[in-house]
Amino acid sequence: MPSLKSIVIKLHDKFFESYLSHEELTKRIREMGEEIERDYAGEELYLLVVLSGAWRFAAELSANIKLDTRIGFVKISSYSGTASSGKCEVQLPVNEEVEGKHVVVIEDIVDTGNTLEFVMQLSALQKAKSVKIASLLFKPEAYKRNYEVHYKGFSVPNLFVVGYGLDYNGLGRNLNDIYQLK
Ligand code: IMP
Repeated sequence: MPSLKSIVIKLHDKFFESYLSHEELTKRIREMGEEIERDYAGEELYLLVVLSGAWRFAAELSANIKLDTRIGFVKISSYSGTASSGKCEVQLPVNEEVEGKHVVVIEDIVDTGNTLEFVMQLSALQKAKSVKIASLLFKPEAYKRNYEVHYKGFSVPNLFVVGYGLDYNGLGRNLNDIYQLK
C-alpha cells in the first residue's frame, strides 16, 4: 500500500521504495499509545524495548502514553542481511526491576516470531505481573508462533523493510519513513 510519492533509495547493494510515511507512522503510533494508556489506566507501566530496531518506535510510543512509565532495554540479535538467522542471543539482559511490573514488550517488527518467543521465555519476564506485546509492524504470512501480539501498528507483506529504526546490515535506521525491498 505505497501511499508516498514513490521514492527509491539504495542501501548497500539493494534498492528500496517508499512504503509507509512518517505521517502514517506517527498517526498510528499515537493511536497505539492511547489504546495502551486506556488499558493500563491507573497502573504503572514498564516498557521493555527490544533493541536495536524498536528504539525509534519506543520513543514515539512512550511519548504518547501519559502514565507513570519506566523504560528498560533488552538487546537480542537474530538477523543477518535480509533473512532471520533463527538463532537468538542476548547481548544486553533484562533488568531485574521488571519483577512485579506490568510489562509491555516493544518490538519493531514481528517476522517469524523467533525473537519474540525468545524474549517471552527469558526468566526475568516470568516474574512480571503481566506481559503484553506491542509491535510497530507484523508479518502475518511469516509468523510461526502462538504468542498474541496485543498491539499491532501495521500488518505488512512478507517483504524486507527498512527505516524508522529498522536496518539492512546496519543502514537505514535513521530514515523517517519505512521503505520496502524492491
Ligand atoms: P523474527 O525473529 O523473525 O520475528 O525477527 C525479528 C527481528 O528481526 C526484528 O526485531 C528485526 O530486528 C529483524 N527483522 C525482521 N524482519 C525485518 C525486516 O523486514 N527488516 C528489518 N529487520 C527485520
